[in-house]
Amino acid sequence: MKSMLESYLTLEQTALLAATLAAQTRASGSLEAPLVARTLVERGCRNVLDVGTGEGSFLLEVAGRVPRARFLGIEHNAFAVRRAEARLRRSPRRNVRFETAFFDGAFARTRHDAVLTRYTLQHSSRPEGFLRAVFQRLERGGTFIALESVESGMDCHVPDPVWQEYRTALLAVHEKIGSDADIGKALGGMLRRTGFRQVRVEFVITSPATVGFERFRAVVLTTAALAHTLFPALLRRRLLARMETWLRDRTGIERRDPYVVTALASATRP
Ligand SMILES: C[S@@+](CC[C@H](N)C(=O)[O-])C[C@H]1O[C@@H](n2cnc3c(N)ncnc32)[C@H](O)[C@@H]1O
Repeated sequence: MKSMLESYLTLEQTALLAATLAAQTRASGSLEAPLVARTLVERGCRNVLDVGTGEGSFLLEVAGRVPRARFLGIEHNAFAVRRAEARLRRSPRRNVRFETAFFDGAFARTRHDAVLTRYTLQHSSRPEGFLRAVFQRLERGGTFIALESVESGMDCHVPDPVWQEYRTALLAVHEKIGSDADIGKALGGMLRRTGFRQVRVEFVITSPATVGFERFRAVVLTTAALAHTLFPALLRRRLLARMETWLRDRTGIERRDPYVVTALASATRP
């Protein structure tokens, strides 16, 4: 069965998701985009496919740092592609284009020297098939870069009941929508089994200390609001209100420094 993000989303759902993704780009993306760009530059990648590009903000951040490469962002949700194209018109970049397409084994056989995917493999109902399809679309020596959640790794140096309750609610939402909240932990082994080599996995920590309080606050609030709107029984109004109050205590939060974890994997097709 397809996961929620492999299926049809309404215009309103897409708009809510887009606000969360844009906040994620400003927060975690401010750490991840330079790391992705560095790998693409080091490996001389010129022709990059981004699978599940969403509303395009993350790809545009990466593309701005690698002007010599061409980027194609594909996304099966036509509403999201429309938003990505509007974003591109507002900040024109000649090295980026977007297309509406579903990525699986039947997707165009053109080969790329890099494939990127961020928070998309976790939504695949057939992750091994997804990775085989990525492998087949890479040139020999080509690079795969994946950024995926490690949601159970969300934590805080000092136990924080609000943050713990939020993590529990997010894990329940992942289960409900058919996504693998912790696929980041499995990336290394999955890439190796698919046939990739030079596999590297690192964890990126997003917290007030690493991205700044305002970006952290914005991404937490938009994600919590999205989860509450879509699944009010899983992230209840009471928790949302508690989080809003919690996020007003800037000094306390900066002192405790709660964090979320993303796995950043890179690998080569031999
Ligand atoms: C959580 S969003 C991440 C978007 C973007 N990569 C980012 O980091 O902001 C995942 C996106 O992948 C899209 N998606 C999921 N499976 C896909 C597939 N097989 N082919 C194309 N798009 C897919 C969804 O529609 C959604 O927009």
